[in-house]
Amino acid sequence: MIPKDPTQVRQITLARARIPNMRRLDVAREHGAWRVFERVLADHVPPETIVDEVKASGLRGRGGAGFPTGLKWSFVPKDSGKPTYLMCNADEGEPGTFKDRDIMRFDPHLLLEGIAIASWALGVHDAYIYIRGEFVDEARVLQQAIDEAYQAGWLGENIRGSGFDLHITVHRGAGAYICGEETALIESVEGKPGRPRFKPPFPAVEGFYRCPTVVNNVETLATIPVIIERGGAWHAEIGRPNNTGCKIFSVSGCVKRPGNYELPLGVSLRELIEEHAGGVRVGTKPKVVIPGGSSAPWLTEEHYEIPLTFDDLAKAGSMLGSGAVIVLDESVDLVRVAWRLAKFYAHESCGQCTPCREGTGWLARILGRIVEGRGTREDLKVLEDAAAHMAGRTICALADGAAAPVLSLVRLFPELVHQRIVGKAA
Ligand SMILES: Cc1cc2nc3c(=O)[nH]c(=O)nc-3n(C[C@H](O)[C@H](O)[C@H](O)COP(=O)(O)O)c2cc1C
Ligand code: SF4
Repeated sequence: MIPKDPTQVRQITLARARIPNMRRLDVAREHGAWRVFERVLADHVPPETIVDEVKASGLRGRGGAGFPTGLKWSFVPKDSGKPTYLMCNADEGEPGTFKDRDIMRFDPHLLLEGIAIASWALGVHDAYIYIRGEFVDEARVLQQAIDEAYQAGWLGENIRGSGFDLHITVHRGAGAYICGEETALIESVEGKPGRPRFKPPFPAVEGFYRCPTVVNNVETLATIPVIIERGGAWHAEIGRPNNTGCKIFSVSGCVKRPGNYELPLGVSLRELIEEHAGGVRVGTKPKVVIPGGSSAPWLTEEHYEIPLTFDDLAKAGSMLGSGAVIVLDESVDLVRVAWRLAKFYAHESCGQCTPCREGTGWLARILGRIVEGRGTREDLKVLEDAAAHMAGRTICALADGAAAPVLSLVRLFPELVHQRIVGKAA
């Protein structure tokens, strides 16, 4: 199904998603599910070989930060004397992102097989899927797939006589965005409020109950089976150097065909919007594109040809993040968008760090009064100062994400804010 020739590959994690009933184990097996794990067990493939293949593949985490997956796995200490855990991050809370949900609801066995191979490579016997609370159906689909996998002997004790044990537990979140941050996620699974931890130590060294813990995104783990089947070098040829493989872009906002589009990294923003998502609804080009979920700094018309890679977006002052591409055209009130996002982050801040707890509230209140016609001439400057002083000064990156839309608005479109303030005075 996925072409052998890497130059022809267009999809990896959604390649089987359109096949009816893929969530059923018998159908998934007909289309290759669990075959790679079966071979890994039968051949007793050394765990280091798997880690080396993942390193060679160039795969970078699909959860937001783009950290190299093989490198993260290699940080797990081999002699800690403690169990190692794997947490699959299925919290998918970043506004605009809806890709992990499609993997889980259409092809849950792909994710489970990825978790099983990663667990074998990392010496994990207990893996968790932390799924956002709102994904009620997806949690049910996953649990059914897990139950079927246990019954068929793909999970449990002494799997297929290999001596390898693996248990997978679905843990449902309770709707807090911050629980997608990996250390808050771990706290939450431990039964505590989801508050990020100081790093270092990083979870790979000290995570779940202070034991080595690898946290990986759903899309990241769903890419593992094909990498082990075809080899790291094969995967490294897809996409661009240092930005290899395919990525699911969740396209939303002012486009004619919103949806998930999986394409090789390096596709241009223009191709994604015009050829895949049907183009913008009003005008010919977007006014603003938020390329990596709502926490990413905004792009404008001048970036329309940019290749969508981690590195190109960082060079342009933004980020690929979760791959959620939010398209805003001429019809959109950008001040109101920034206000809406500011309210979201103020609501979701866990409150541990003063710049985030206080700053997110200030941004929301100031933008609110501007939108409602009560802004003052000083507000533009105060907004920029407050946002600039939040970023980079906190335990986790939520504060940077909260500052990004506001800084984008006041730096790229100061006249829009100004007009709102002056307009009410006139
Ligand atoms: C505020 C915040 C929210 C996050 N939410 C998610 C999320 O919903 N899903 C996710 O996979 N990663 C999320 N992340 C990133 C995780 O902390 C972590 O980097 C990721 O799960 C690692 O997986 P990867 O290496 O496979 O990308 C979030 C980070 C921050 C700072
Ligand atoms: S930056 Fe915000 S969300 Fe993150 S730990 Fe600090 S207060 Fe909590």
